[in-house]
Amino acid sequence: MRKKVIMITGAAGEIGQALVDEFTHNDGYTLLTLDLHALPAEMHGRTIHIQGDILDKTLFSRLVTEYEIDTIFHLAALLSTRSEFAPELAHQVNVNGTLTLLQLAAEQSQRRGEAVRFIFPSSIAAYGLPDLPTKARDFYVREWDWNYPTTMYGCNKLYCELLGAYYSEHFQQLARTKPIMLDFRSVRFPGLISAFTVPTGGTSDYGPEMLHAAAKSEPYACFVRPDSTIPFMAMPDAVTALLKLWHAPAESLTRRVYNVTSFSLSAAEFQERVRHAFPEAEITFDPDVQRQGIVDSWPAGLNDKAAQTDWGWRPAYDVQRAFDEYLVPNIRQRYAG
Ligand code: SER
Repeated sequence: MRKKVIMITGAAGEIGQALVDEFTHNDGYTLLTLDLHALPAEMHGRTIHIQGDILDKTLFSRLVTEYEIDTIFHLAALLSTRSEFAPELAHQVNVNGTLTLLQLAAEQSQRRGEAVRFIFPSSIAAYGLPDLPTKARDFYVREWDWNYPTTMYGCNKLYCELLGAYYSEHFQQLARTKPIMLDFRSVRFPGLISAFTVPTGGTSDYGPEMLHAAAKSEPYACFVRPDSTIPFMAMPDAVTALLKLWHAPAESLTRRVYNVTSFSLSAAEFQERVRHAFPEAEITFDPDVQRQGIVDSWPAGLNDKAAQTDWGWRPAYDVQRAFDEYLVPNIRQRYAG
């Protein structure tokens, strides 16, 4: 008999590490993790880890013979800044990789006669606002507002949301009998901030970079203007959102893609929070025109009412708690000594 598992792709990444950590506090699930990289030493033994490429279809054909995949948390992706330097590779990983997994999940749903749940982190990058006055006016965007991304990563995320809905609702729509579909669910995340890891290749990275640099007593030149505003969220809330959406009964959901957010901050306000905790912090502003353009196209806030209503979404960490109770103490401890 095949072993029932939860598959997590991109498990060595920021969200992946936090998610695996949360799962291993809740026994009872076998995790099958996949990443191009090995997992950090402290995660060894907690999962069945496959070091491999999500573009390797042979690998997946082998995995489905050994494992019954109950749920996929598909986290592997190239983030927005990195994707601009390698757009074709980004498309391969972010779109083709997702397509392979959706196809696999669709086939597995039919094979076992039960929907595979497919949980997918999307992003504020799925939005593209035309100019700063519009961004200030339409502060809290709704899921269907301004879906005109300007980055390869944003285009990839938006398209994969649509593919997920297609595989969940219309896959094999011309067949005589309706097949068992997969169950795709997605959250559009704001910029995420972890106390334990730093992001690589994203454009919201100036927030976490500023904070981690201050804790290490390193100077930091912020690559966007002080007035640049986007929404943020502490990593534990991001994990909560993924798990809550995963657990939500299908009949309570009215959409497949949900905004989730916690607090919006300008880069200047972010700097003030960092300085409050680390008064010696040397933070300057040295905007990079191109990355600034990306941040200017992202919304200042997200309207997450649908997530609140449908599956009881609520962040545990508002801005005060995020800095005072999660980020600052843990980051301090991390770099102490
Ligand atoms: N944090 C991501 C990035 O900056 C957005 O989802 O690319």
